[in-house]
Amino acid sequence: MDKFTFSYPTRVYFGEGSAEQAFLAELGKVGKTVMLAYGGGSVKKNGIYDEIKTLLEQAEKNVLDFNGITPNPTYAKVQEGAELVRKHNVDFVLAVGGGSVIDCCKVISAQALLDEDIWSMEYEKGVFPVKGIPMGAVVTASGTGAEMNAGGVITHEEKKWKGGIFGIAPAFAVLNPRYTMSVPPMQVLSGAFDTLSHAMETYLGNSDSDNVSDDLALAVMRNTVVNMRRLLENINDIQARSNLMWDSAMAENGILKCGRLTDFQAHQIEHQLGAYTDCNHGQGLAVIHPAYYRHILQDAPDKFRRFAKEVFDADTAEAGVEALADFIKECGLPTRLSLLQSKVEITPEVLRQVADTCNIIKCNPRELQRDEIYDILTECL
Ligand code: NZQ
Ligand code: ZN
Repeated sequence: MDKFTFSYPTRVYFGEGSAEQAFLAELGKVGKTVMLAYGGGSVKKNGIYDEIKTLLEQAEKNVLDFNGITPNPTYAKVQEGAELVRKHNVDFVLAVGGGSVIDCCKVISAQALLDEDIWSMEYEKGVFPVKGIPMGAVVTASGTGAEMNAGGVITHEEKKWKGGIFGIAPAFAVLNPRYTMSVPPMQVLSGAFDTLSHAMETYLGNSDSDNVSDDLALAVMRNTVVNMRRLLENINDIQARSNLMWDSAMAENGILKCGRLTDFQAHQIEHQLGAYTDCNHGQGLAVIHPAYYRHILQDAPDKFRRFAKEVFDADTAEAGVEALADFIKECGLPTRLSLLQSKVEITPEVLRQVADTCNIIKCNPRELQRDEIYDILTECL
């Protein structure tokens, strides 16, 4: 095990009635004005907005709406939210949504208390926020695990960059699997694939052997695959959605990362692909992963063999990667970049820009050169 510090910054309330339970325990600690932040309106259609707003009013809070946070949330939206928080002296930010809403709020919360631009502060000076307006998260779509960490993934449109910005971790998170029942099937599966990706990317980072974090990551992968298959049988299986909701949190709350390095090269490629195309995160990962793994499987043969056996009951490292590719097809997730919904045509020129601008990871099985990233991407076209 490498040296590490571990703590859970977020109290998790899981299951039916968890919003009531969380608000009773948590909202007395914060002031009166609550910013209720959400996305493009799904929470209005499925009744979650009304349910949460009623609970906030019962807790005698003044509710200020902040809506329109898009998937792949933008830096401009962060600034808009921070401005609103300052203008109305907001005491607490409540994110109600998937990873995009939660990420945007984590960074709003930190930016609202800063005199300087958080992007420049973090990217140019290497300084990270230590305080923010307290916030909480009500998860309505699982997969990212954004509810249990302080990192937001934000698209800076002018800089053509999608990447992490540290904000403030939610003080609490409400995980009620019922809230995810209205998520469309493709989003449910791409979210779950994101969870699988987080566990795979963590496991494939450099680590010593017989590391308990590896065992935990493999358990999360197995459970995610089993429950995704349950959803292929019955998309309304609430037990499977419930298992996936906790897999999602487990994969990104830091516990799998204790004492080890992580890979996340596929994520870095996908994030830049997102910056150029605005594609769905889990779908982008589904396309990239098999191609990336075909390139690096000879660099970590033992790890890939173990992954093959324990997750897909396949006998060789190569068979494991092909089983992953088959599983992606079985789920109906996109297998080629041309199948992604994109705001621009995905051409070799676009892919060159993605390859030339994405972060390069150094603690994966093998550090890639930009030309090889470009090759991986063009193999996905
Ligand atoms: O905007 P609304 O109308 O709410 O619709 C959303 C959105 O269109 C919809 N949705 C959410 N809950 C719903 C629902 N539709 C019906 N019923 C519900 N209950 O789902 C769509 C996708 O939502 P989004 O929040 O974008 O999805 P996801 O949770 O997959 O988040 C993706 C974002 O998180 C980032 C990704 O890069 C991407 O920007 N990530 C964040 C991470 C983190 N903070 O730890 C780690 C990840 O690797 C990832 O990068
Ligand atoms: Zn992800």
